[in-house]
Amino acid sequence: MNRVQRVGDVAEIMLDYVENNKTFLTDKPMRVPSRTYTDKDQWKAEMELVFKRVPLMLAFTAELPHPGDYKAMDAAGLPVLINRDREGKVRAFLNVCSHRASPVAAEGHGNCARFTCKYHGWTFAQDGRLIGISEAGKFGEVEKTAMGLRELPCEERAGMIFACLTPNAPLDLDRFYRGMLDDYVALDFANWTWLGSRVIEGANWKIAFDGYLEGYHFSSLHPETIAPRTPSNCMHYEGFGPNIRIGFPQRRISEALRPLPRESWGEQENNGYDFVRIFFPNVSAFIAPEITQIAQLFPGPTPDRNRTVLNYLRREPIRDEEDRAQVEAAINFFRDVTYNEDYLIGLEIQKGLESGAHDELVFGRNERGNQYFHEWLNWYLEDDASAPEPVL
Ligand code: FES
Repeated sequence: MNRVQRVGDVAEIMLDYVENNKTFLTDKPMRVPSRTYTDKDQWKAEMELVFKRVPLMLAFTAELPHPGDYKAMDAAGLPVLINRDREGKVRAFLNVCSHRASPVAAEGHGNCARFTCKYHGWTFAQDGRLIGISEAGKFGEVEKTAMGLRELPCEERAGMIFACLTPNAPLDLDRFYRGMLDDYVALDFANWTWLGSRVIEGANWKIAFDGYLEGYHFSSLHPETIAPRTPSNCMHYEGFGPNIRIGFPQRRISEALRPLPRESWGEQENNGYDFVRIFFPNVSAFIAPEITQIAQLFPGPTPDRNRTVLNYLRREPIRDEEDRAQVEAAINFFRDVTYNEDYLIGLEIQKGLESGAHDELVFGRNERGNQYFHEWLNWYLEDDASAPEPVL
């Protein structure tokens, strides 16, 4: 079955959900220990067995479109430098000088032919080679070829740049995403425009991420922002390995789809239904052509905190100053809604979980996305590749 047919079938299911007040249901609720969100050992295990093992979507093609463009960032506490060389190839490195570990590029975006460490001025080529030692004659003998930047496995695909935070680790995007990146190819995502980003901070990264995985809370938590477009507690879930495509039908799905030929229903994303695409373990993408928000959630320095980068993209380039001002206002609006309506309650949930009131929390039959995410998280934490994988 091709992609459009599959989406068309999902659209038909979502239409039935709205017309008959139904949602995706699994067989039973799932209980998760409260300490999953508070425990220091769990946090360490997540860093080692998840965040340093799986491919992470760290940047967008549109963020560094030109030769020499780079982005220096914090990814789960590690300093990472991503750059595009003269030939257009993208690489990722630990942003750590081989002299005495200073970053070789300041956090943010830029364009340069080589990186110069601000501490003592050593220089590194775009491919990470150490090419210059300041006053080398006085420094003494070192093996320059062995002192390049530490490279990370990295691949650019479908408009995004993926890396693994462990040098020399395997990076098999096809095996990990199992067809989910085809959506981004179909959207021509590589040619979209990156509009900017905002950073917000909140509770444990999984508390925040749980909020992106269900629409059960829309009418109570988002009565004026999301609920007018999207009915509460009406979701469809599809698994692509550990990744999830969540279908959210709009209230007007019947009006939007019924007049159209059935074979075109799979091409109506944002007209009657929307998708949130979840990249395990930490990315949530709400795609809409006018403005798309893609959240990258990273564990904070302690288990009770996360750092979320909200990225904004759209198909069209910025037209003029007025357009730019409108885009900035829209970005601020999305950021404020996400922070005020989702992240603030997350901080209260963190307190609740740490209070000892309940040993467990529970995800309902309707919250299958959350269940599936936690099943996969546990699968990775077990660290046994022969264990059966969760199925949706
Ligand atoms: Fe980079 Fe010294 S730490 S040149």
